[in-house]
Amino acid sequence: MSVSTLSPSLCDSLNDSFGIDQFIHFEEGPGGFALAHLHSEHGSASVSIYGGHVLSYQPTGHEPVLWVSEHAQYKTGKAIRGGIPVIWPWFGPDPLSLGRPSHGFARTSTWEVKSSQVRDNGDVELTLGLQESDATLTLWHHSFRAEISVVLSTALNVELSVINTGDHPFDYTGALHTYFNVSAIENVSIHGLEDASYIDQLDDMRIKEQAGAITFKEETDRIYIDSRATCQLIDSGLNREIRVEKAGSKSTVIWNPWIDKSKRMSDFGDDEWKTMLCIETANAGTDVITLNRGGQYMLSTRISAHHR
Ligand code: BG6
Repeated sequence: MSVSTLSPSLCDSLNDSFGIDQFIHFEEGPGGFALAHLHSEHGSASVSIYGGHVLSYQPTGHEPVLWVSEHAQYKTGKAIRGGIPVIWPWFGPDPLSLGRPSHGFARTSTWEVKSSQVRDNGDVELTLGLQESDATLTLWHHSFRAEISVVLSTALNVELSVINTGDHPFDYTGALHTYFNVSAIENVSIHGLEDASYIDQLDDMRIKEQAGAITFKEETDRIYIDSRATCQLIDSGLNREIRVEKAGSKSTVIWNPWIDKSKRMSDFGDDEWKTMLCIETANAGTDVITLNRGGQYMLSTRISAHHR
């Protein structure tokens, strides 16, 4: 039996302030974190306040689009394995080698609910915010205001917006690190990155050229550079195409841990690599964002599912 870490009154007060009958409801989720459930005629999605993290998305008439590990750990300080972790303000290992956590601190921070609405066209929107605190300032010495907006429409739209609220410029990298649910890794191919160059993170960061569609036959960990294109994830087992459109991103990360790495990760099942892959809408590698004082930048993705 798990022990609740959330007083029931937090979800009650979130429901009072931001709940919208039949469209947005807050409940205690795994690990005791507050979880927002979004519903509309187009489907459903859930968003964890911990991490500002989309945990599920299921369009009406489709299998779940996002994948979450059965072994995911839901505890403060640990990133949730699956869904859409918000990677920010650095992608990958600590760029300064100071021992700070990999992939930044946004995914392990508790975000604040800022607003909720149902638009005239029926789109359901939830916005969460994060700004500097004693905890973030010890890791990254900058003032900022970040927002994640999640819009449940005919697709799922997720946008990370960052404003530099301090006096000095800062640089950052990041990603909407999306884990997709697939029928079987041998059934899938990714289109849209044909002929693109990529940094092979498994071969000393060598630059290589993609030839044709991406398929998976081994561990894959690549940063495709100068890639603004839409990716199509074709899954012949589910007879489904998932389209990943994006804006504010010149890099796309493709990741599957395959056999050995899966075994090394404590929050990942040994066989789970067979039914997931990541297509990450990123600012990574040389795609670094610089924000001057008062500057703002948006990274966004639009994820839609289509029968084939
Ligand atoms: C990907 C990286 O974005 O995230 C991989 O390219 C990394 O190198 C993967 O292994 C998972 O990272 P983490 O920190 O969530 O285990």
